[in-house]
Amino acid sequence: MRARLATGNRHKLDEFRRALPDWEIELVETTSYPPETGSTYVANARGKAEHGRLHSPGDAWVVGEDSGIEAMGLKGGPGLESARWAADGVARLLEELDGVGDRRARYVCTIVAIGPEGQEVVVEGTLEGAVVSERSGNEGFGYDPIFVPEGETHTVADLGDAWKASNSHRARATRALAAALQRSGSSRGGR
Ligand code: IMP
Repeated sequence: MRARLATGNRHKLDEFRRALPDWEIELVETTSYPPETGSTYVANARGKAEHGRLHSPGDAWVVGEDSGIEAMGLKGGPGLESARWAADGVARLLEELDGVGDRRARYVCTIVAIGPEGQEVVVEGTLEGAVVSERSGNEGFGYDPIFVPEGETHTVADLGDAWKASNSHRARATRALAAALQRSGSSRGGR
């Protein structure tokens, strides 16, 4: 299966490739994505996929992805704003959660894939966990140094890229995408 990923985030490309080792995934050849103004992850992921569609071969599946971290103690924030709410999102999250008892959080990853005939597949993956107060670990990106998944004792940045490839919100969403395309008989071909 060959697909084009509509993202400017190199980490996401690496994670898609690790999670779907049988796929040939290339970046959409554009850097000028429109601003993420949607009020849902689906709307933002669709915006990226539709933009990617314009810059991809007609017979390619184009994959748009939007993700974020939702802290229960911040009423689900920063959520959709995770990439934009601060120059250093980790520092701000630690600051906002200082003194907050409820440290539960979850990662969300929503994928909108658009096929050669304009058909659309929407899938989501989540990862429950908690935000810890000190950074730890060097792998992953974004909030990974302060996010400990449920059932684990280390941060995602400590657990590492191989762990993410099987267990992350993004890995779960990509598996759901592969299963959906398999069911629809679309998992052959594409460019
Ligand atoms: P966007 O999908 O480009 O809007 O960016 C989502 C933002 O959410 C990223 O810039 C990160 O701050 C955060 N995020 C999404 N997925 C992850 C992840 O796997 N690890 C850590 N942070 C993430």
